[in-house]
Amino acid sequence: MQAVVLAGGFGTRLAPLTYTRPKPLLPILNKPMMQHLVEALPPHTQVILATNYKTQMIEEHFRQMGRPILVNEEPRPLGTGGATKFAEDYIDGTFLVLNSDILSSLNFRRFIQFHRDNKALATISLWPVENVQEFGVADVQPDGRITSFVEKPRREDAPSNLINAGAYCLEPEVLDYIPPDKMVSMEQEIFPKIIGEGRRFYGYPLEGFWIDVGRPASYLKANLTLMKRRDVSQVVGTGSRISGQLHQACVGRDCMVAEEAQVSSSVLYDRVTVEEGARLDICIVGEGCTVGSHARLSNVVVGDGETIDDDAHLENTAVWTRPRPEGYPDRQIGNPVKEQG
Ligand code: GDD
Ligand code: MG
Repeated sequence: MQAVVLAGGFGTRLAPLTYTRPKPLLPILNKPMMQHLVEALPPHTQVILATNYKTQMIEEHFRQMGRPILVNEEPRPLGTGGATKFAEDYIDGTFLVLNSDILSSLNFRRFIQFHRDNKALATISLWPVENVQEFGVADVQPDGRITSFVEKPRREDAPSNLINAGAYCLEPEVLDYIPPDKMVSMEQEIFPKIIGEGRRFYGYPLEGFWIDVGRPASYLKANLTLMKRRDVSQVVGTGSRISGQLHQACVGRDCMVAEEAQVSSSVLYDRVTVEEGARLDICIVGEGCTVGSHARLSNVVVGDGETIDDDAHLENTAVWTRPRPEGYPDRQIGNPVKEQG
């Protein structure tokens, strides 16, 4: 079976971290989020990576891991539907399509069996949330059949609280619904069309945990949730020297946290130095950064390679002092959340 992993897009909501690396390679407990996904797939699944941003970095990572992956780079971003269509030549039967920015406990074997038992054309995983306006929302009948789907509705227009959890099991015939070589949204265009034609479209409510890792707060939550599930309050990569205090913190490789420094509810990437007496709370600090002595950072995202001055006080901000990389958009493209009103 093939799994098309949707790994394109700039990940603008996670900038500046995504200025220097693609979203699927952002680490969760020191392992790229996409690797968590690939490792959860049934054995022998052929992974087709649908990318368009920093492809080589992703390819290189999996090459180094010794996990054969087929890289299918789009000539330009084709959207979630267009990218799936672009993988058509590799599909030889029932297949999976997976958002790469999700961390979940989806049991793929049961998910695929549910799809087969229902003789569905398409099955999507579902998860209940409060903030429905940020997702695709499904109207689900008691037997699991989905009778309407609306992407990022206004809150009052949402048909339920069950959202698209970003994993699909599809029959190859779904590809016939997607026009080739075009920007196409699976969620805005293809799902409503399949449902509108009365085809068998099902929803599979997943159990356990589900985290959308698309924003800094949820990215941090993903790290903290996995720590909690593993019953640890800190994770420290090899070669790191910790003299200060860590509380609910994930520290990458070859970092240094000096005496009397405190790092809580935060993630430090590789080669980060936190100097004496600095305090970090709810922060993500990119690779190779230095946080000066006695600095205070609260709810701050620091891009790779930045230096925070001694005694700096920063709150609710992102740090990036160099120009935005060429070609990187200044806001989310694709399916942004509608203005509420
Ligand atoms: N190859 C490729 N090409 N991948 C893309 C493209 C593209 O042009 N655009 C987006 N992707 C990938 C992203 O990397 C991500 O893994 C996935 O497609 C979904 O795109 P996002 O931009 O993250 O969408 P979203 O988070 O706003 O909404 C999606 O996910 C929600 C669950 O987290 C939708 O599928 C919603 O319906 C869903 O509820
Ligand atoms: Mg997303």
